[in-house]
Amino acid sequence: MQTDVFLIGAGQTKFGELWDKSLKDLMSEATDAAMETAPCSALDVDFVVVANMLGESMSGQAHLGAIASALLPHRPPALRVEAACASGSVALHTACALLESGRAETVLVIGAEKMTDVSTDEIARGLMSAAESELDVPSGLTFPGIFGLIAKRYMYEYGLTREDLNLVSARHHRNAVSNPFAQFRKEIPAEAISASPLVSDPLRLLDCSPVSDGAAACLLSTKHVSPFRIAASQVSTDTVSITERPCLTSFGATKDAATRALEEAGIEHGDIAHLELHDCFSIAALLSLEDMGFAEPGNGIRWYQMDETMTVNGSGGLKACGHPVAATGVKQLIDIRKQLAASGKRYGLAHNFGGAGATCSVHILHHAHA
Ligand code: COA
Repeated sequence: MQTDVFLIGAGQTKFGELWDKSLKDLMSEATDAAMETAPCSALDVDFVVVANMLGESMSGQAHLGAIASALLPHRPPALRVEAACASGSVALHTACALLESGRAETVLVIGAEKMTDVSTDEIARGLMSAAESELDVPSGLTFPGIFGLIAKRYMYEYGLTREDLNLVSARHHRNAVSNPFAQFRKEIPAEAISASPLVSDPLRLLDCSPVSDGAAACLLSTKHVSPFRIAASQVSTDTVSITERPCLTSFGATKDAATRALEEAGIEHGDIAHLELHDCFSIAALLSLEDMGFAEPGNGIRWYQMDETMTVNGSGGLKACGHPVAATGVKQLIDIRKQLAASGKRYGLAHNFGGAGATCSVHILHHAHA
């Protein structure tokens, strides 16, 4: 980072089926929650960046920068960022760029998504706008379908079993029990994962992140300080279509963003105490651990077989917290902050991707009081 950017405030709504709340209500609730924790007033916010993917298609609402700006008394300049499921973290990256350039001193980042007011078919179609409209969509693929193909190939290459895969969702659901903002707070035994309905072979209902509503907001500043500093903020991209990739079991954008983030922070893998990774499907957690260099290819499952020191998805991850797509990347940074505050450790990493890993953003948070 070219200058010190501090995370000075953070708040979120509960994630889940929030039928009585509109997209604007969610944005407003998360903003109020973030402002309540901030050492400054709303009038100090000199820019708003809002992340959202599906406003037009699911709520008939575009122009969300102006909607978000109107949540503050002085209507600061605002813009919207869209990068599919990575929208939230790309909005954080955009805020860091505004702060590093000196254009702004305090930026409010809001990630918000409203997904549950439509049928599962409609939301699946909406989400597929994050895939390649010429190469992927005409084949009838959905995201559970794409990650089902990835899981099949991974099992073929590395001998991962169905029982192994059960451990991922079971762990994330267990972690969510103590998270008051999570959509699902019930422990789920490993055997129940493979007994749940088949969605896209070999993935079952309980391998999938759910469809969710929710919003999260972070306040980043170069003017006001806190013990939590953004040590790295990186974004990388890859081909949108999986048909144009050399390999199905590894995401190049994750590799690139994580390598650059660790370099930017000047730290090594062993320095990370808490990791929030993008487990939109259970198999994605294993790919992410390997692509970020926390495990050798084919060996990501060891994080779930052993009691490791680094926490992986201590919040419950997308699987159990829910995945209101553009809110997820912002919420992950909030979870890392909470976990560092509770453990007193120094570094946590948030990993968020869009589509089948076509955009990936990695943020590293440093805790000064450790
Ligand atoms: N995890 C845990 N429980 C879930 C769940 C999930 N992913 N999805 C649904 N449930 C629960 C529901 O709460 C419901 O429980 P209830 O009967 O006690 O109320 C039950 O399972 C059935 O839910 P329903 O909404 O009818 O399921 P569905 O078949 O319409 O949708 C999926 C299930 C997996 C298809 C849907 O959640 C999905 O598409 N997930 C992936 C979303 C996605 O692609 N995101 C982008 C990632 S890149």
